[in-house]
Amino acid sequence: MTASDGTGTGKGALITGASAGLGEAFARLLASEGHDLMLVARRADRLQALADELAAAHGVRVLVCPADLSRPESAAALEAQAAAEGFQVDILINNAGLAEPVSFLNFPVADVRAMIEVMVTGLTELSHRFGGGMAARGWGRIINVSSLAAFAPNSPGMLYTGIKSYVLNMSQALDLQLKPSGVHVTALCPGFTWTEFHDTQGTREWANRLPGFLWQDAGTVVRAGWEAVSVGHPVCVPGVVNKAVASFTKHLPERLRYLFGRQARMVH
Ligand SMILES: NC(=O)c1ccc[n+]([C@@H]2O[C@H](COP(=O)([O-])OP(=O)(O)OC[C@H]3O[C@@H](n4cnc5c(N)ncnc54)[C@H](OP(=O)(O)O)[C@@H]3O)[C@@H](O)[C@H]2O)c1
Repeated sequence: MTASDGTGTGKGALITGASAGLGEAFARLLASEGHDLMLVARRADRLQALADELAAAHGVRVLVCPADLSRPESAAALEAQAAAEGFQVDILINNAGLAEPVSFLNFPVADVRAMIEVMVTGLTELSHRFGGGMAARGWGRIINVSSLAAFAPNSPGMLYTGIKSYVLNMSQALDLQLKPSGVHVTALCPGFTWTEFHDTQGTREWANRLPGFLWQDAGTVVRAGWEAVSVGHPVCVPGVVNKAVASFTKHLPERLRYLFGRQARMVH
């Protein structure tokens, strides 16, 4: 772990998936508000460049913590690193994620495990490891990045919808428990957002054909999420279009939801 020195006077924020997209946008937003940062992702060079930039621009302390969150020991290692550095995590942004490029049976089982580890087990364990301290101190903010997909019908063979539904439900359960202690938990459920997500998934060409009004930029999404957790909204669907889609799909009867799923694009 390397650090960019600074004298930030805000809270300490741990952000997963900070090397790109929404995580990077969260880092920029929180640093601009004077919060110290612990940046987590696999690509250390990107984290270091971002840390240097934000420390210089905002005078905050930024720790660079390269980690592969698909490894089960990562959450414990991050907690140990924070303790060793005297870094108090009062804000946790569980953002790292990916969607599988192929459907279930064609996705190697090791990759299925890794996906669940990053977005389910790892996210849950980090919430557990840092949420308790926040509650004991009487203040904390946790954003778990879910997706508009959490409200949508399933697509054939894709685990992503089920995983993001878990994130949505788990976040609400945690908020119900922790809010009386001063800890707000928000499930942030973005729709299509301009990041590297569709490049990683291999769906960029398909995504680029979607109409522009469906898309948001990462800065807009993270500002909506941060505002929501600040005021204590347990769920944040950013943008008018996404809100309309969510309120339509979440009220679909179960049978109709399944039938809609049958019409969805099959990814091989
Ligand atoms: N973009 C969208 O349209 C959209 C819509 C709804 C929800 N989301 C959700 O938003 C979150 C952020 O995605 P994004 O759009 O910002 O995508 P992105 O630009 O591809 O960024 C994904 C981030 O996750 C990190 N990551 C992936 N696997 C990791 C691992 N094993 N260990 C550590 N870090 C890992 C990546 O870092 P490294 O590769 O450096 O490790 C990267 O920083 C995800 O949870 C995604 O499901 C995105």
